[in-house]
Amino acid sequence: MKIQKTHVIGAGAMGHGIAQVFAQSGCDVILSDVNREILEDAKSHVETNLNFLVQYGLVDRSSIPTILERIQTVVGGEDISSDVDFFIEAVPEDVDLKQKVLGSIESVCRKDAILATTTSVIQVSDIGATLERPKQFVGVHWMNPPYVLPLVEIIPGPKTSDAVTSSVRTFLEDRCQKKTVTCGDAPGFLVNRMAAAVLVEAAKMIEEGVASFEDIDRVWKEHMGYIFLQFGPFGNIDHIGLDVITMAANYLAFVLEDDRFRPPSWLQEKVNAGDLGVKSGRGVYDYGGRSPEEMRIERIRKLLEIIQQRSH
Ligand SMILES: NC(=O)c1ccc[n+]([C@@H]2O[C@H](COP(=O)([O-])OP(=O)(O)OC[C@H]3O[C@@H](n4cnc5c(N)ncnc54)[C@H](O)[C@@H]3O)[C@@H](O)[C@H]2O)c1
Repeated sequence: MKIQKTHVIGAGAMGHGIAQVFAQSGCDVILSDVNREILEDAKSHVETNLNFLVQYGLVDRSSIPTILERIQTVVGGEDISSDVDFFIEAVPEDVDLKQKVLGSIESVCRKDAILATTTSVIQVSDIGATLERPKQFVGVHWMNPPYVLPLVEIIPGPKTSDAVTSSVRTFLEDRCQKKTVTCGDAPGFLVNRMAAAVLVEAAKMIEEGVASFEDIDRVWKEHMGYIFLQFGPFGNIDHIGLDVITMAANYLAFVLEDDRFRPPSWLQEKVNAGDLGVKSGRGVYDYGGRSPEEMRIERIRKLLEIIQQRSH
């Protein structure tokens, strides 16, 4: 199904930004909220955001009035237009509220309309449990701010139809110019599960008096950010060595008495098979005969590129 007319329910931090992306993509948007004041602020936030993007060459100033005209604000959101193709709720992170909002839309919207949630962590199967047409329902987790950050996670629930997932992916990528990743319906999906692991660990280190808030942030800004931005966790493991990481993780699991650090069996199996990363030609990824020296030089080049970019 081709998505043209959209409705965003909830005009807070996420909702107004998602509505902006849709309007910038040339779609008509209904933006609704139970709170009139938030709705009024939402429209002016969008205008401010667009003017800001002009400074970065991302929006043409002359297009702003047309973009704003595409967003129609509605207090309450009970009026469900029959020509809406895509509804996305961005109401607070409360499963009962989300079920109620989506249920009332489903009872009046077109049968082939797609319904989505932008939940941050709640499983799509839980939110969709009370829907009559769960095949039309999908998780679409936007990053904040949606009009700046490129990635959107698409989370099909157990009953979401492939056609719905595919329509949403095409819409987000081709129309909204987003990068998407489709992932399993696990709590926290990809981004927030990994983010939570890092944040909670950092918070525990504060509690244990290991370092200050500032120094933990500094470690990310001066090191971890470069490494993970260029290589991701698995590209990085391949450079460090799967054997080294496995040993380190086992040590932490033992000393900290925390099984969350224990390496999963697939990692140990790779080590046992001699797939140690770039040094053995294969680890998580296969380096297709490229020598460890070639890979070492490439790593240095990529790190220098990003460090120099940041210093400019
Ligand atoms: N804030 C973030 O950084 C972020 C990032 C990604 C995803 N999310 C998720 O997006 C969703 C919205 O988060 P937010 O930060 O925008 O919240 P928010 O509190 O800023 O906005 C929620 C809006 O929903 C409105 N609302 C409440 N009940 C409603 C109803 N029945 N009908 C219509 N509107 C209603 C509220 O008035 C409010 O304006 C949550 O599920 C959150 O987990 C948030």
